[in-house]
Amino acid sequence: MQPLSHRKRIPIPFYGLALVLLIPLVSPANSCTEQEKSSLLQFLDGLSRDSSLTESWRSDTDCCTWEGITCSPDRTVTDILLASRGLEGSISPFLGNLTSLLRLNLSRNLLFGGLPLELFSASSIIVLDVSFNRLTGGLSELPSSTPARPLQVLNISSNLFTGRFPSTTWEVMKNLVVLNASNNSFTGQIPTTPCVSAPSFAVLELSFNQLSGNIPPGLSNCFVLKLLSAGYNNLSGTLPDELFKITSLEHILLPSNWLEGAFHGIVKLTNLVTLDLGKNELSGEIPDSIGELKRLQELNLDHNNMYGELPSALSNCTNLVTVDLHANKFSGELAKVNFVNLSNLKKLDLLSNDFTGTIPESIYSCSKLTALRTLQILSDSRSLTTLFIGSNFLHETMPEDGIDGFENLQQSADRTYT
Ligand SMILES: *[C@@H]1O[C@H](CO)[C@@H](O)[C@H](O)[C@H]1NC(C)=O
Ligand SMILES: *[C@@H]1O[C@H](CO)[C@@H](O)[C@H](O)[C@H]1NC(C)=O
Ligand SMILES: *[C@@H]1O[C@H](CO)[C@@H](O)[C@H](O)[C@H]1NC(C)=O
Ligand SMILES: *[C@@H]1O[C@H](CO)[C@@H](O)[C@H](O)[C@H]1NC(C)=O
Ligand SMILES: *[C@@H]1O[C@H](CO)[C@@H](O)[C@H](O)[C@H]1NC(C)=O
Ligand SMILES: *[C@@H]1O[C@H](CO)[C@@H](O)[C@H](O)[C@H]1NC(C)=O
Ligand SMILES: *[C@@H]1O[C@H](CO)[C@@H](O)[C@H](O)[C@H]1NC(C)=O
Ligand SMILES: *[C@@H]1O[C@H](CO)[C@@H](O)[C@H](O)[C@H]1NC(C)=O
Repeated sequence: MQPLSHRKRIPIPFYGLALVLLIPLVSPANSCTEQEKSSLLQFLDGLSRDSSLTESWRSDTDCCTWEGITCSPDRTVTDILLASRGLEGSISPFLGNLTSLLRLNLSRNLLFGGLPLELFSASSIIVLDVSFNRLTGGLSELPSSTPARPLQVLNISSNLFTGRFPSTTWEVMKNLVVLNASNNSFTGQIPTTPCVSAPSFAVLELSFNQLSGNIPPGLSNCFVLKLLSAGYNNLSGTLPDELFKITSLEHILLPSNWLEGAFHGIVKLTNLVTLDLGKNELSGEIPDSIGELKRLQELNLDHNNMYGELPSALSNCTNLVTVDLHANKFSGELAKVNFVNLSNLKKLDLLSNDFTGTIPESIYSCSKLTALRTLQILSDSRSLTTLFIGSNFLHETMPEDGIDGFENLQQSADRTYT
């Protein structure tokens, strides 16, 4: 910024002054351009069913006034928001001619065919949501010489997309923050290119696909990743140490895969809120240091091969809402965990484990009261709504007249086998 005294000395030519005076006189256009109008009408042409759109999208009117269209003050189209309009047909590549389009939302329609490259790689679009349609084919590979694209949010979930994720395409998506590709039929590996090319990449949602291979160590380049979701795929191998370096992670959801091994390093992820590793082949114990995960709300490790005692440190995870350890080989005394501070706990599922032998038989066989007391440690968890502990405590009798103190208890699978 130049000091004012210097500016004063710069001579202003006469025509320069004239230009300055003219600027306020340039009024904004009062209608969208014919070219933008025609691009939108091409899109309409591609639809076989457009619900009521034809009534509003009339060629003799300003397209900025059409249903679902928003323009900037200079009458260029910035938003096309047509979610849940019963639109049927294909998505016209002509929409790519709208050079100021920022947001395109065609979610929950009946659109089929491919996602035009012209939109996917548009030079203005920052939010693209085509979720819940019937789009097919793969995502195109863009030449790596393509200039950086502004796309930040891509939601292509719940379609019929197939094939592998293109790698060079992510290289040019330098502004990507969210990739939501869940519920398709993508194959190949979890893509890690966005971790390197997009410094703000935060959400990777890939559940319900056919991805295979390991959890790639390259994910550790995702320095601000908050959510990693790839459940219901065909992933295998152990959780790599590199995963435990992504300290920004808040949600790890990898249920229903073929993951194996232990995962002690997980306790480094002190921002974790959700850890869902259920329905895998994991083994090992819950590490003592689990108590470090102070923000943890959901711990799902059901249907694995985990064993060992529940560490008493679990009582330090005071934000826990759900603990599902159903169908493992955990053993030892449940009483080791002091539930007194887990006041948010709503669901505790301990079904089908081996807690049996280690709860002293004397305590149970002597009276209901003892069992009741053991369970009444839980009664300070006022909001507890679900408790499953059956088929653990073999040879023991459980209280027949309900469990006192659980005001909100809705379901209790407290069958015992004697
Ligand atoms: C508009 O888009 C179509 C399809 O991508 C393209 O063939 C055409 O040349 C574009 N027209 C203009 C005027 O940019
Ligand atoms: C698209 O529109 C639907 C329906 O209004 C909305 O739920 C969804 O969040 C929108 N998508 C984005 C990315 O904003
Ligand atoms: C699609 O995903 C984006 C980002 O995750 C989200 O904002 C949007 O709401 C989703 N759309 C729908 C229809 O749920
Ligand atoms: C992904 O999109 C689906 C809609 O298909 C939405 O329900 C879900 O919340 C989105 N996931 C994320 C992480 O934004
Ligand atoms: C997956 O997509 C189908 C078809 O759009 C939809 O009916 C189903 O609810 C989706 N499933 C999930 C888990 O989002
Ligand atoms: C799952 O991955 C394994 C290799 O780990 C492979 O043999 C199998 O064919 C895959 N299954 C599917 C349905 O992709
Ligand atoms: C709970 O955390 C406190 C403070 O970090 C620590 O001193 C204590 O040993 C922990 N309790 C258990 C049971 O690990
Ligand atoms: C429960 O919380 C209180 C207050 O923070 C603390 O003094 C006490 O040691 C905690 N009890 C357990 C078993 O962690």
